Amino acid sequence: MPRVLPLADMDKILSLSKRRGFIFQSSEIYGGLASTWDYGPLGVELKRNVKEAWWRSVVRDRDDMVGLDSAILMHPRVWEASGHVENFSDPLVECRSCHRRFRSDQVESERCPECQGELTEARNFNLMFKTFMGPVEETGQEIYLRPETAQGIFVNFNNVVNATRKKLPFGIGQIGKAFRNEITPGNFTFRTREFEQMEVEFFVKPGTDEEWLHRWVDTRFEWYVSLGIRRENLRLRRHDPDELAHYAKDTYDIEYRFPWGWGELEGIANRTDFDLRRHNEFSGEVLTYFDEESKEHYFPYVIEPSGGVDRATLAFWLDSYDEEPDPPSRNGPPGDGQARQTVRVVSHLHRKLAPVTVAVLPLSRNERLLPTARRVYDLLRRSFNTQFDDAQSIGRRYRRQDEIGTPYCVTVDFETLDDQQVTVRDRDTMYQVRLPIAELTTVLQDKLEHGW
Ligand code: GAP
Repeated sequence: MPRVLPLADMDKILSLSKRRGFIFQSSEIYGGLASTWDYGPLGVELKRNVKEAWWRSVVRDRDDMVGLDSAILMHPRVWEASGHVENFSDPLVECRSCHRRFRSDQVESERCPECQGELTEARNFNLMFKTFMGPVEETGQEIYLRPETAQGIFVNFNNVVNATRKKLPFGIGQIGKAFRNEITPGNFTFRTREFEQMEVEFFVKPGTDEEWLHRWVDTRFEWYVSLGIRRENLRLRRHDPDELAHYAKDTYDIEYRFPWGWGELEGIANRTDFDLRRHNEFSGEVLTYFDEESKEHYFPYVIEPSGGVDRATLAFWLDSYDEEPDPPSRNGPPGDGQARQTVRVVSHLHRKLAPVTVAVLPLSRNERLLPTARRVYDLLRRSFNTQFDDAQSIGRRYRRQDEIGTPYCVTVDFETLDDQQVTVRDRDTMYQVRLPIAELTTVLQDKLEHGW
């Protein structure tokens, strides 16, 4: 099994993603909009499963966490208080000849990488998207599309404390869209201008912040491993002091070994009391916390694990892709009547992330098989994301399900009509067992929870 996907294989991934309905170029029929992507029928399921797994792990399964879903549009003062108006910018240079723009920290010489033209002096380019609120643009209020979901959490700090009576340490989790007018988006869904974040703001007593930072770093790292990313394709990288964000005292990035090199999946930052203090100052609302034990009022410190949904989804998808030798003896039940492939393309997506969990495949389209196969399908779809497929040979259908990462295929054959048993095939081992239809749901649920 290749440990790292070669860059050359990205073309295969792009084509598989499009062909099987994972990811499409946005506005494709108009020639596409650069670096924006749409998730197709299978991609949306995969992405939902990633978000669901995150929500379960950081919100539902923890007593010290609650959730939130705040608005994308916020009061413009929020972004002054947060420091984004002043600091959220990248250094930009422009070529005087071809007028292409680059991040100055990404060009190596003083000449344009495209046409060797002369570059302008670097100037700071704010990454926030602006828009207008109200029907008349000229008199409308200028507002921003949020560049991070985090601020929606900070401005609701008092609301959540009052509504939930949570005591420190506790956190608030949120998943939602964020927008950045990136100068150099690219690498498929890795860097885009519209993306989704999964963020936690975890409020702690000052002095315990460093310990909590490390706890969250470990927890978040293990989450990626628990959902199937190979440990050797992940690493932790601590920020150098000069690369820390304006609000951070310390930050660790969880990076994935993408085909183009290491790239950030998630940053875990110690944001100190920067945000609550600033919002207190700018809004006039008191955002300190009253500690009943010590009878003190103070600004809590904040540990922030902040990950990208799109990047995580891409990493799970890339890490699971595999091409295996496909000897004829392993190629499904006999009699599928197709030319043998020499390579099996299989996605080993974790069973909790796979867009389709079970596929129900009648051995053929024979009329006698279909009613039973439909009955099995109706039974399973109540509990699992299930697909019914009766087109083409059984061997091809197995391959199609392997390619999209379906962990279990259930085949209904003529014997099923007599003994009410079906064949369950495991994607990874291609091991097959016969099981009574009546036990299918329980057995598959157990497999989903614990594997084989
Ligand atoms: N609230 C902190 C914050 O926003 P960040 O490191 O700028 O921190 C957090 O962003 C995560 O959001 C990143 O680790 C990455 O996964 C994702 N992200 C940031 N910019 C992105 C972009 N342009 N495209 C896709 N994902 C992005």
